[in-house]
This record gives sequence, C-alpha cells and structure tokens, in this order.
Amino acid sequence: MASDAAREQWHPPSIEGRRVILRHHMPENLSAVTRWYRDPELARLTRYQTRPMSVEEIERFFHARLLAPDALAYAIHVRPLDRLVGVTTFSSLDPDNGSATFHITIGEPDLWGQGYGTEAAELMLHHAFVRLGLHRVALSVFAFNARAIRSYEKSGFEIEGRLREAIWRDGRYWDEIQMAALKTEWLARRARFGTWSERTVLEPVESAS
Ligand SMILES: CC(C)(COP(=O)(O)OP(=O)(O)OC[C@H]1O[C@@H](n2cnc3c(N)ncnc32)[C@H](O)[C@@H]1OP(=O)(O)O)[C@@H](O)C(=O)NCCC(=O)NCCS
Repeated sequence: MASDAAREQWHPPSIEGRRVILRHHMPENLSAVTRWYRDPELARLTRYQTRPMSVEEIERFFHARLLAPDALAYAIHVRPLDRLVGVTTFSSLDPDNGSATFHITIGEPDLWGQGYGTEAAELMLHHAFVRLGLHRVALSVFAFNARAIRSYEKSGFEIEGRLREAIWRDGRYWDEIQMAALKTEWLARRARFGTWSERTVLEPVESAS
C-alpha cells in the first residue's frame, strides 16, 4: 500500500496551470462524463466504433479508470469559474520502461480550440516527467482528428509512425497516428522556449462577472 506521501507525489489532488486546473474526479462528475461520452461527435473523433459508449460502459469506465484510487486520472477544470470541462488520464503505466499512454477529452465542444487541451496536456507531461520520473509518454490519434494532432504537437508530442488505413470513417480509410514525447527532449525544449501556454497570452473564455 502506497504511503500518503507517495500517493501525494504520484497523484496530487490538484495540478494548477494558468487557465487550467487538474483535479481528482468526484463521484458527481459522472453525469457530465456520461453526457460527453454519449455525444456522437466525440465518439466519431475518438472511438473505433461509430456508436457512443453505452451508459453502462461509461459508468464502468468512470469508476474503474477515472475515480478508482489507483487511476492516474484527472478532471480538467478551467478558470475563473473552475468549470469542469474534460478528463485526462495515463494508462499502461510501465515502471520498468518508464512509459505511459496519454488520453484526453475536452467534453464541451464550445471550448474546443481555445487552448485548454494543450495546457492540460502540458500539465500532464510535466507531471509525468518531473514528478513521476517517466521517460516516455505516448498516444494514438486518428489522422482525421486534425485539431487533436495540432494540439498534441503544440504540447510537445512528435509523430513517430502510423498504422496505415486502420480505421474506416466518413466513407474512407484513415491512418492511426502514433505520437510520443520523451523526457529529455521535452524538458530541453521547455527550458529553451517555455511551454506553449507560457508563451501564449490567452484570456479566459468565461468571465467571472
Ligand atoms: C483534442 C483536444 C483535447 C484538443 O484540445 P483543444 O483545447 O481543443 O486544443 P487547442 O485549442 O489547444 O489546440 C487546437 C489547435 O488545432 C487547431 N485546429 C482546430 N481545428 C482544426 C482543424 N479542423 N484542422 C487543423 N487544425 C485545427 C487550432 O487552431 C489550434 O491550433 P493553433 O493554436 O495553432 O491555432 C480537444 O479538442 C478534444 O478533446 N476534442 C474532442 C476529443 C478528442 O478528439 N480527443 C483526442 C482523442 S485522440
């Protein structure tokens, strides 16, 4: 059983950025997560199957992969209202090889393209490399998801390869693209240029007034 100090190091209750705060999931997040994962457009962008997950599948996913004490998962909140807008997780944590797989979903489409996903990814990469001491964080993304690919590139992932014509979507085959960030490269780039969110001045979309 991990000590409280080890758990705090491994999975702190919050990770704070300029406009984004990552927080542990709460049971009451289930209703928002269900709404997001029932959205056909979100399913189109993220799943091999065209149909969204069933409510039962979402509940199982929520409890096992987002809420469970050993899940390395965060709810994405945005300032200034602390609005819950998405989820981000690491899976396939491999201590022998210092690697993990990264996942992210901003569930509110009105907030896509506002920089929140990139900042959340940067916070997760910083956590992976600086706090967890991981060496490599990888992900996969469908080639038609140009917004996601661009966001991943901004946060420091690089394209490594592609599974050719792995998915049939919108009447044709598309590649699944493999991307990864390496600790040495990511930290060197950050030291030289700062992160994308540090370099970019963005106003909160929502005002507190
Ligand atoms: C992928 C996701 C996390 C990215 O987060 P985000 O906050 O929307 O991304 P950002 O605003 O930080 O960056 C998006 C970039 O893509 C660009 N972009 C948006 N739509 C685009 C399009 N159709 N083609 C190319 N680029 C596009 C934006 O202009 C921006 O780049 P810029 O800053 O150079 O202008 C979020 O969009 C999301 O959760 N989408 C739905 C679920 C999903 O696709 N998850 C990923 C599965 S692998």
